[in-house]
Amino acid sequence: MTNKMMRKQLEYDFTLVRNERLAEKTWLMELQAPADAPADLIARPGQYVNIEVEGKFLRRPISVCDWTSDGRLTLLYDVVGEGTAAMSAWQPGRSVNMLAPLGNGFDVNALGERPLLIGGGIGIAPLYWLAKAIVAAGRKPTVVLGFNKGADVVFVDQFREVTDEVYVATANGECGVKGFVTDVDAVKDAASFSAYAACGPYPMMRALGTMLPERGQLSLDERMACGFGICMCCCIATRSGLKGICKAGPVFRSEDLIWK
Ligand code: FES
Repeated sequence: MTNKMMRKQLEYDFTLVRNERLAEKTWLMELQAPADAPADLIARPGQYVNIEVEGKFLRRPISVCDWTSDGRLTLLYDVVGEGTAAMSAWQPGRSVNMLAPLGNGFDVNALGERPLLIGGGIGIAPLYWLAKAIVAAGRKPTVVLGFNKGADVVFVDQFREVTDEVYVATANGECGVKGFVTDVDAVKDAASFSAYAACGPYPMMRALGTMLPERGQLSLDERMACGFGICMCCCIATRSGLKGICKAGPVFRSEDLIWK
């Protein structure tokens, strides 16, 4: 199969339904898949889509926050540059071209009976659908969400609709535990959980991967720039050599990662 054919197979025009600011720099986007997209187009929490932004050479990879079988896709994104600033001005009704689905995603079954989910900043997004998938599988997740400050806190109520065990930390102490996710009791007590899944800024992922080297699934989506194997900036050291996060991940087993 040629690259062109493969790309065509992944390419869909979604319709923007909602595009709203949730916090200082965080926005929520809701999109409807085209009628010919399969109900299981996005199969796993932790997979991502790659959005085309007019005038930009590289697409924007964004992890899926939620996907429903009627083709409704929810994304959270931070406005951090020109591309995401342009996205924040998009109006409902607009067509949004994206490659979907990309990436491997989390393995829900491998998280066991009592999973711990740990998210930081915009990295909380893929954990939302993951928490829902865990509940749908008859298990109860414990969720720890970390933010820099109170004004950055988003989606906590939505997580609380999924599970009653949701803990928040803010670095400046404005909300929840003062400090990082690693200061929350549930994370200090991670050994009592069957496994953990995490997504967040790279320093947080390195701290977790070093502190909890076993039974973890870590999404390193924050390290991706192009999301499609062309910018060569997403290498990570693993026990089987250097891997591209957008090609082999973005989710990796904690046991396979080598932190430097
Ligand atoms: Fe660009 Fe992987 S994100 S090569």
